[in-house]
Formats: sequence, structure tokens, C-alpha cells
Amino acid sequence: MGVKILSIGAWTPNKILTNDDLSKMVDTSDEWIRSKTGICQRHIADADTATSDIAINAAKLALERANISAEDLDCIIVATTSPDHHGFPSTSCIIQGKLGAVNAGAFDLVAACSGLAYGIEVARGFINNGTMKYVMVIGAEKLSSIINWNDRNTCCLFGDGAGALILSKSSEGEGDIIDSIIMADGTGEDALKIKAGGSRNPFTNELPSIEDLTLSMDGQAVYNFAVRVNTEMVQQLLDKHNLTSEDITWIVPHQANYRIIKAASKRLKISEDKFFMNLADYGNTSAASIGIALNEMYEKGILKRGDLIITMGFGAGLTYAANLIRY
Ligand SMILES: CC(C)(COP(=O)(O)OP(=O)(O)OC[C@H]1O[C@@H](n2cnc3c(N)ncnc32)[C@H](O)[C@@H]1OP(=O)(O)O)[C@@H](O)C(=O)NCCC(=O)NCCS
Repeated sequence: MGVKILSIGAWTPNKILTNDDLSKMVDTSDEWIRSKTGICQRHIADADTATSDIAINAAKLALERANISAEDLDCIIVATTSPDHHGFPSTSCIIQGKLGAVNAGAFDLVAACSGLAYGIEVARGFINNGTMKYVMVIGAEKLSSIINWNDRNTCCLFGDGAGALILSKSSEGEGDIIDSIIMADGTGEDALKIKAGGSRNPFTNELPSIEDLTLSMDGQAVYNFAVRVNTEMVQQLLDKHNLTSEDITWIVPHQANYRIIKAASKRLKISEDKFFMNLADYGNTSAASIGIALNEMYEKGILKRGDLIITMGFGAGLTYAANLIRY
């Protein structure tokens, strides 16, 4: 007996912002963004759409595919760094209310781009210890709301969207969340940060600058960290379970930059073809990216029951996490 991914859903806003569109807003070019990141476009939510609205669309699809109702859910875990409200109420509670998941607890999980991988392990614990039957884990972001659109260093990297998974108990021979790595290196707290608005630098009568209220990043530091931990996590899971890369059908990495994935693939001596990538179409959607990727793989029919996959994320905190999953 284990814990399986019962269903997957995702949703991204229709509105697309291309690299050419961006080059009319800041001093950048399609060529720079493509060659440095692999990103061609990103999906951007309307002004009146919040993270919970994006998440609910993904959640409804996952419920439909699981063939259960919202009332069957025991818990909703929402991984996000762009919640509807600063502090409270949690985005997960808003989703719980609007879905009518009257039997579910709900909380937000803040682990940035590693959030979905963290959430999968938390859900596994709830189901394995027998307290819960159906747990929904959603990675959802409206990153366009926390980006400084005047900062070319960051505004070209991110997009909006949500991916939702429903996890439940599995029987012998079905899928299983086999193992996870849940890690952090808080000494890297400055590498990715929103500087103002928290207890360290609270709101005062004087409005903080837009730079302090939006995402700031040391791109090079994050890049080096990402290549290192992506490589280490895959190797660690393979070694611990006596597996080789041949046993793995797909590695589904957090979609931040194709150069990070390329570098990890080279160090691991695992073909790039094994790493599923769709960041060209979505950019970096933080906690949502692995869910959006899994959904695309499911819809294309390239994610098959029985496949052994590794999902892995890294991000602000710094955090990093991975799951070894028999789908
Ligand atoms: C951001 C990133 C793409 C930059 O790539 P890089 O190879 O480190 O960039 P370089 O150091 O070669 O170039 C930086 C130069 O490009 C410029 N630049 C930055 N963004 C630019 C843009 N959108 N268009 C044109 N030029 C840009 C910088 O101003 C800088 O110019 P300078 O050298 O005159 O000061 C890369 O560091 C990265 O992807 N890091 C990880 C970021 C990430 O994944 N964050 C999210 C984690 S969850």
C-alpha cells in the first residue's frame, strides 16, 4: 500500500505576453531572452484575476478527472508565493470556500518554487498515517502581481498559472510516491527576496519603493545553486534506491531556465530528452511549474501509469525538493 497521484489538472490564463511584447516595455530582445533562458512567451492573468481564481480552474479539472467531488477532499494544500492576500486569509481557505470543499482543512505552504514537491510529501504523510483519504496539492501563482515590470533582469522570466494534483491511497501494483527529498539552505535568503511588507521591513506611512515590494534576485547565485542541487537530488534518489537513469522515464524539473536543466543533464550524464521541458510556452511559474508540466505530459499521453519519474524544484529560501514517483 502506498500513495498515488490519482489525477492531475492545470490552468493558465489565455493572455500571452511574448518576448517581442516585452521588448517594447524594457530594454531587452527576443534573442536575449531565448538564448539566456529558453523562454519564448508567458501567460499573464487579467487584473481582476487572483491566484485563487487561477488555482480553482486547475482544481476543478483535477476533481473531474479523479471522478470525486470537492466534498470528498480531506485537505487542500496550496503552494504559492503570490497569495491573494498578504498574511491572511490563506489562499487555500479561499479556494476551499469557493470549491465547496466543506470537509477539507486548508493551508498554504511557502517553499517558493519547491512548493509542489514539498506539498506532495506532506500529503503523502497525511494519507499514509491514515488520517486522510483525498488530499489536493495545488501549486498556483500570479507572479505578474509581484514582478517589477521595469526590471529587465526579472520581468522576462516569470508567468502565471496553476497545477493541481489529487493524491489518494494506492493498492499493490498501483502508483506510489516512493520517496522525497525536502531540503533548504536558508543562508541563501538574499538570493531571491521581496524585501518589504513583512515583519523585517513592515509597511509604514511612507510607501515602500516598487523595488522593495517586488521580487529581487541574484540571478547568478540562483543559477549556480540550481544546477548543483538539481544534480545532487537526482543522483541521491538514484543511489538510495539502487536505480540507474535507465529506470527513470521522465525527470520533471521546475521550469526556470533551460540552461540550468541542460547543465544538470550534462553533469548527470543523462540525456536532455529525459527532462520534460515546457518553459518556452509558460516561463517560470514557480510553485505551479511542475504541476503544469505533469498536466501537459498527461494530456499528450506521454505520462503513463507505471512510469518511474522524478519531480524536482528549487527556489527562494533557498529551498529544494524532489519526489521519486511511480505514476
Ligand atoms: C537571469 C539569468 C538568465 C541571467 O543570465 P546570465 O548568463 O547570468 O546573465 P549575464 O551575467 O551573462 O548577463 C547579465 C547582463 O545581461 C543584462 N540583462 C539582464 N536581463 C536582461 C534582459 N532581459 N535583456 C537584456 N539584457 C539583460 C544585465 O543587465 C547584465 O548586463 P551587464 O553585464 O551590462 O550588467 C540567469 O542568471 C538565470 O537564469 N538565473 C537563474 C534565475 C532563476 O531561475 N530564478 C528563479 C529561480 S526559482
